[in-house]
Amino acid sequence: MKSNWFKQAVGYQIYPKSFRDTNGDGIGDINGIIEKLPYLKDLGVDFIWINPIYKSPQFDGGYDISDYYALDEDRFGTMADLQNLMMQAHSMGMKVIMDLVVNHTSNQHPWFIESRKSKDNPYRDYYHWQPATPDHLPNNWISFFGGSTWTIDEPTGEAYFHVFSKEQPDLNWHNPKVREEIYDMVRWWLEQGIDGFRLDAISHIEKAPWDFEIKSFKDNSPWEPFMNVAGIEAYMAEFKKLFDEFDALTVGEASGVSSKEATSWTDDHGYIDMIFELEHSNKDDNGQGDLKLFKDTIMRWQEDLLARGWNAPYLENHDQPRVIDVLGDGTEASAKALAVAYMLLRGTPFIYQGQEIGMTNFDYTDISQVDATDTIYLYNEKLAEGLSKTAALKVATVNSRDHSRTPMQWDATENAGFTDGKPWLVINPNYLEKNVAAAQTNPDSILNLYKFLIQLRHEYQDISEGHITFLFPEHPAVLAYKRGEFLIVTNLSATPTTITFERPGHDYQDMVTQAIVPDLLELSLESWAYRIYKKIKE
Ligand code: GLC
Ligand code: CA
Repeated sequence: MKSNWFKQAVGYQIYPKSFRDTNGDGIGDINGIIEKLPYLKDLGVDFIWINPIYKSPQFDGGYDISDYYALDEDRFGTMADLQNLMMQAHSMGMKVIMDLVVNHTSNQHPWFIESRKSKDNPYRDYYHWQPATPDHLPNNWISFFGGSTWTIDEPTGEAYFHVFSKEQPDLNWHNPKVREEIYDMVRWWLEQGIDGFRLDAISHIEKAPWDFEIKSFKDNSPWEPFMNVAGIEAYMAEFKKLFDEFDALTVGEASGVSSKEATSWTDDHGYIDMIFELEHSNKDDNGQGDLKLFKDTIMRWQEDLLARGWNAPYLENHDQPRVIDVLGDGTEASAKALAVAYMLLRGTPFIYQGQEIGMTNFDYTDISQVDATDTIYLYNEKLAEGLSKTAALKVATVNSRDHSRTPMQWDATENAGFTDGKPWLVINPNYLEKNVAAAQTNPDSILNLYKFLIQLRHEYQDISEGHITFLFPEHPAVLAYKRGEFLIVTNLSATPTTITFERPGHDYQDMVTQAIVPDLLELSLESWAYRIYKKIKE
């Protein structure tokens, strides 16, 4: 059985490159995280997840690791710094988890450098190689970053497989030597005192037979041959043994694992503690989220994992544009309603850096401002299709991952208090008003609402672990639910609305205003309203 501390906990995701730079090179670092631990403690978070800080050519924001045992010291700091971070976090009662990227390595990893050399190289089988010609690739699968999953490589003339960019060749999990290397590495990190992992792209480690043909390129089907493919269970079971040994906290990025399957992945005997579902966040060509999809997905995951399993609710991460501009309408009110809507769900909620102050998307005006590989790829693709630079930039950036990667806005000083140097990525000019320092002094800020929501989770077991029942499931804008004695209602739209409860009405106390709400039968909800009510005992 797994331990359960995480059920009361709140996680905070740090994109270290953009969190806080302490040595003026314009790149956030480990010491920057240490500096901000008191801020995180004050916010109330129980653990942090740090995006990759391993040695990497940074082709994909560190998700292309060239040495699993080394940190990117030039950018982020040394192992001693990391030990110091863990020590200080632990002394403040916070845990630290790191990214585990084992679907693929960088093409600069020594294993791949060897693997490319010849067909009989001892590392050849560490990756997936197949005979190929430009007209005859092994199959018609396409990669997440665009183009074929196969890249033909000199000197052998064969093609290697990659579900992400060609700089991120996929490891061959069929090879027991690969698995052993990975498990050794995981053990080593756990021995260093890491409290657990966010398992990157973990549902892709097994692939369908190479002759599997993609018939439809719509919806999710192009990813089918490498998304939660049968056979993965054996690898996950091996992982589980290792994680259990260290009582490690584990959260999987596991697209393709359905809410039904997630029960056995995340229950008391499951491979991991919880899963980030990736279904709720679809956006249209104008960057707008789909509220119905969001609501339906959340309800389904919450209900399916009620009897068994555990959720990891989140709104933002380093791959998604800012929710205030996706599901919200840019206003603070929308950021608050969204915060309440998801922070009191059942599960372990995650907050992504900057979300707690309502950081927004960036208005990209030139491709030179962009870093994300997939955004640049899409831009070039659109140029090649004949679009103007302006049009291509719009298409490429509307849902770009670089919206959430702009540096954290700490205060109104130059460069938002992120760095004394030149920031590696553009800083959003709205830092002058939108920053942590300003939010701290405003009792009505989004930040203070997050603090309050975290306190509620810590104080009331009804909210952390209790049952959940959704109300008004068909309502187009209202997301409402009961958690034991609590009633949570949000209007996720700018249009006021009124909802009517079933008789008999109950007496509630408004947890925000302390007002008494007698015999609640009808509730008028203003634009982006939220209510957190607690039943008054008769
Ligand atoms: C995950 C990460 C993303 C990365 C990809 C490849 O989806 O969140 O940032 O590009 O895996 O490792
Ligand atoms: Ca730095």
